[in-house]
Amino acid sequence: MSKFSDFRSDTVTRPTEKMRKAMAEAVVGDDVFGDDPTVQKLESIAAKMMGKEAGLFMPSGTMGNSVSVKVWTKELDEVIIEERSHIYNMESTHLTFISRVTPRPLSSNRGAMDPDEVERNIRKPSVHIPRTSLICVENTHNNLSGAVVPFENLKAIRDVADKYELKIHYDGARTFNASIASGISVKEYASIGDSVMFCLSKGLSAPVGSLVVGSRDFIDYARRVRKALGGGMRQVGVLAAAGMVAITEMVDRLKEDHERAKKLALAISNLPGIELNPEHIQTNIIIFGFNHPKLSIPAFLEEMKKREILASAAWGGIRFVIHKDVDDKDVEKAIEAFQEILTY
Ligand SMILES: Cc1ncc(COP(=O)(O)O)c(C=O)c1O
Repeated sequence: MSKFSDFRSDTVTRPTEKMRKAMAEAVVGDDVFGDDPTVQKLESIAAKMMGKEAGLFMPSGTMGNSVSVKVWTKELDEVIIEERSHIYNMESTHLTFISRVTPRPLSSNRGAMDPDEVERNIRKPSVHIPRTSLICVENTHNNLSGAVVPFENLKAIRDVADKYELKIHYDGARTFNASIASGISVKEYASIGDSVMFCLSKGLSAPVGSLVVGSRDFIDYARRVRKALGGGMRQVGVLAAAGMVAITEMVDRLKEDHERAKKLALAISNLPGIELNPEHIQTNIIIFGFNHPKLSIPAFLEEMKKREILASAAWGGIRFVIHKDVDDKDVEKAIEAFQEILTY
């Protein structure tokens, strides 16, 4: 095991022993022929959990999002999306590359787009301009420090979508984190989206995989789009078996990640160079501005690395992410390193 404390992302989590055992023992078939019982079971549990008719296993969150956008849109359409969202910024522009739609990015208050602004940005039908067909929301919001988007805000955006008969895709890569932090069930959050994507391979620690859930018709078409993009997988029950452990046994422990993130944020927020309001840390992601008189961001990260701590640069600042494979000792080690490096 590496002695590095790895705070770069919650995607670095290793599968648990139970996951490895479940993978070894998984009953599998050929999922492209529709006969892998383990992936079918996971898809059906996921759909039920989220209050939807059907589910579809995806190799990644990015493919879950790209397939969903593709299903809901046509070329010449426009998609309303939050300006710092993962789909808009970090998925190699599948909006334009795969769906061939125009993104219409809107600013937000910590992930919450203003519903009136959303409404104002819906295009009126015209031959000159694109047709608005989809709104994408993200919760928790990765690039805004894991912010939990208030449910009332999501609901208000849902009302706007209903008024104009638009679809909503809910990027819930970390919807379980949102639920643990807010007490609002994942099913309630999922009610916001016509389609919902969530990840198994972040805080929930599965090695691979995401799910998309929605109506039966949506999933039937999404399955075809997934195949067209090369995402039809064969004995995928091996991966689904780990995913099953992720959603049935790994959710409650996310609370520990949130507590550790808060502890770290509170301990560092007053140190020289750190621009961080610890009250904004609601889940497992800490992104802070960095403006130190003696150290650049790369120099700071290098100093951390010398102390066997990994973190990353993000949005002109620095990101620390808490997950299963960093514990209290790693957090203490990081706090000590912050104090040592930044105090002058
Ligand atoms: C909010 C959000 N959506 C989607 C994704 C994409 O997931 P993947 O890395 O599995 O493609 C991520 C990844 O970090 C994410 O943070």
